Parts: sequence; C-alpha cells; structure tokens
Amino acid sequence: MTANDRLPAEIMVVDDDPTIRFIAGKTLGKAGFDVRTAGNGKEALEQVKDSFPDIIMLDVVMPEMDGFTTCSNLRDISACKDIPILMATGLDDIDSIHRAYEAGATDFITKPINWLILEHRLRYLLRSARAFGSIRSAEEALRRAHEELEQRVEERTLELKKINSQLQEEIGHRRQMEEHLRKAYGDLKNTQAQLVQSAKLASIGELAAGVVHELNQPLMVIRGYSQSLRRNRVTEEDLANALERIEKNTGRMASIIDHLRSFSRQSQSDFKPVRINTVIEESFLMVGEQLRLRNIEFFKKLSADLPPVKGDSNKLEQVLLNLITNARDAIEEKRKIRASENPAGASAQDGSAGRLEVITRLSENRKDHIEVLVKDSGCGIPRDMIDKIFDPFFTTKEVGKGTGLGLSITYGIVKEHHAEIEVADTGSNGTTFRILLPVE
Ligand SMILES: Nc1ncnc2c1ncn2[C@@H]1O[C@H](COP(=O)(O)OP(=O)(O)OP(=O)(O)O)[C@@H](O)[C@H]1O
Ligand SMILES: [Mg+2]
Repeated sequence: MTANDRLPAEIMVVDDDPTIRFIAGKTLGKAGFDVRTAGNGKEALEQVKDSFPDIIMLDVVMPEMDGFTTCSNLRDISACKDIPILMATGLDDIDSIHRAYEAGATDFITKPINWLILEHRLRYLLRSARAFGSIRSAEEALRRAHEELEQRVEERTLELKKINSQLQEEIGHRRQMEEHLRKAYGDLKNTQAQLVQSAKLASIGELAAGVVHELNQPLMVIRGYSQSLRRNRVTEEDLANALERIEKNTGRMASIIDHLRSFSRQSQSDFKPVRINTVIEESFLMVGEQLRLRNIEFFKKLSADLPPVKGDSNKLEQVLLNLITNARDAIEEKRKIRASENPAGASAQDGSAGRLEVITRLSENRKDHIEVLVKDSGCGIPRDMIDKIFDPFFTTKEVGKGTGLGLSITYGIVKEHHAEIEVADTGSNGTTFRILLPVE
C-alpha cells in the first residue's frame, strides 16, 4: 500500500441485493475499508447529506431510483463532484457503460463481481482521486500564488508610477533651479562686467588729477614756444625748430587723451597679440606724473624682444594700474607709520623717496611664460592677510579710500588670460607681486 491509497477509506456500497451488500461488507472490510451500505439510490442520497464517503460503488439496476439517476443526482451535490463512483453494470452491456459515464461515473465494473479485482480497482480509483485532489490543490495554490504575484506586480507598478512621478517632479524642480542658476550666473557676469567697468571709471577719476599734470607739462612747452615766437624776431630755423617742438608736444597730449578715451570705453574682452612692455609704458603714461608728485621714483626694467602674449591690452593695463596704485598707497602708508613711530623726524621721513619697480622678463622656471614683477618699497602685507587680499571687498584702507575690489578684479582678469598672480615676496622692505603670462 502506498501513501496515496492509505486506508481506512470509507466506501458506500449501494445495491438492492442484500447478499452483495453483505459480501461487500465482509470482503472490503477485510481489505481495510470502512464499509457502509445503502439499499437504493434514495437511501444513498439521504446518507450523503450527513457525511461523504471516500468512494461509492453503485449498482445500475435498482428499484425506485436506478444507478444512473442516483449517479447524476450525486454529481449535482457539489461536495460529491470529485468522489470516485464505480458503477456495477451487466457484463458486455455496452449501452449501460456509456450511460454510466454520461451520468458521471468514474469507472465501471461488470457483474458478477470479482471481489479480488474490485479491491484493486477501488484502490486504484482512490489513488487517482487523491492524486487528482493533490493536483487540484496544487493548481489552486498556483492560482493563488499567481493572483498574489499579479497583485504585487500591480502594487509595485503603482509604487513605481508614484516614484516616477515624484522623480519627474524633482527633475522639473532641478530644471527650474538650473534655469534660476543660469540666470543668476548671467546676472552675476553682468554685474561683474559692470563692476570692472565702474572700478575702471573710478581709477580714471583718480588718474584724472595725475593726467592733468601729464597734460600740463607739454602745454607749458607749447605755450613757451608760441610766446617766444610772438615776442621775438626769429630765424627761419628757429621757427622750424619751435613748430617741430610744438607739434611733438601736441602729439603727446593727443596720445594721452586718446588713450584715456579708449581705456574708459566699455569693451568686451578683445584678445589679440599684445606687447606687455607697451602696456606698461602706457600705464605709466597715466600715472607717471602722479607718482613723481608723491615723490615715488619708478624704474622700468623691461626686457627687449619679449614675444607677444595673447590678451586684452585694456584689461592688462587695468591690472598694472591696480598694482601700481596699490604700491603707491603702500608706500604712503609706510610713510604714515614711520611718522607716527617717530614724530620728531617725521618731516624728514615724509620726504624719503618711495621706490617702485616694474620688471618684465622671460620666466626661468616656467617655459613659454613672461614674468611681470611689480616691486614696491611700501608697508608690506601681514602674513595672515595674504590669503584674503584677492577677496572682493577686502580692504585695509579707510572708508572712501579703497573699495577692496582692485585685486579681486585683477585676479579675474589674470584668470581670463590663463595667467597667474601671486605675492612673490612681502615684508618690511616692501612687496613684490608676480604675474606669469603665457606667451601667445
Ligand atoms: N602692494 C601692496 N602692499 C601692501 N598691501 C597691499 C598691496 N596691495 C594690496 N594690498 C592690501 O590688499 C588690500 C586689497 O587690495 P585691493 O587692491 O583689492 O583693494 P584696495 O586697494 O584696498 O581698494 P581699491 O583697489 O578697490 O581701491 C589693500 O587694502 C591692502 O591692504
Ligand atoms: Mg587697490
């Protein structure tokens, strides 16, 4: 006996022949079945109302209700749908066999009954009914698992949809932020350009005083010559000479004015090959007189034959002017400090000449770079301040004197030129700024 045909199983034997019921009870009971019997179809239907057997053996020919009707009535009861029903038909009664199957019988056995075969047949039916049951429940479990899976897929899809829409929302948000950022960056660039321009205009204002002196000097020369021409009798040669000097000096004045005009013009960066020495000469054209007035000696040690750099000459000039005015202020600051430290010798110290030097040369360490050094004999920069001087609005100057923008703008321009700027040296003897410009 295998697990599938485990006994006891209850069999209901439905037959109007008491002998058969008796023999069935005995032989099947002996074979391990629990046997209950019914004398006809009606009785059988009554019995299943209370409890269902595991298997039914049903006689075909019975009074009151034949086996076929009983069988189909049993199949109408939902709990009896899967109970194996074995119908006992007459031998070779093909018609009955067909009808038995039509009424829902699981199998048939012919009369007279061979009890030994019956036992095996019953076991086989039970086994297949149980296997069928297992398949059914496996199917059911599969269906439930499938349903559960579908539900989970549906839930997950919903979840994913939700996440997706959140993501879309976030992407939208980011795009908006990006747009804001782009606009803010645009505004910032604009502001920076305005800042550069206003710093430039501010330095022009400051330069104006110096420029007045620059212009005054040739004007005096012109005036002197024209007065002497009017008053004195002059030779042809004197006249030619005087006119030449006048022309030369008006030329100098025109070039100062021209330069001031082009420097103040707002310009987008205009990168061209630039001779750095020319930029330096033009910067001194603007500030030279001013430095002289403040008793600051300046020296230009400009290497000849330097290759051009790629840059915007106006902006590079702004860098030089920022460094030169800072040097000028540092020299004056040093005078003030000395005066406060030594009030007695103040007047003598005040008069001491400051020194400013601008050097250009090819860099020894960095190939293809020109080095521009701006050296002053000023007050120096305290060590802990060196990191801050390029920050916008960092100034040690009194209110109204410095905006703190000079070096931050200088830094911006230097970066724009793919160049570098640093404090090469600073101390009580003064400060040296170094700019490294890549050659074109
Ligand atoms: N050559 C220098 N010697 C000593 N200190 C310097 C020198 N150059 C700059 N500094 C220091 O760095 C600070 C910042 O310089 P920056 O040119 O940015 O602004 P500022 O000169 O104070 O003002 P602005 O240039 O806007 O008129 C100065 O206030 C000064 O303290
Ligand atoms: Mg400055």
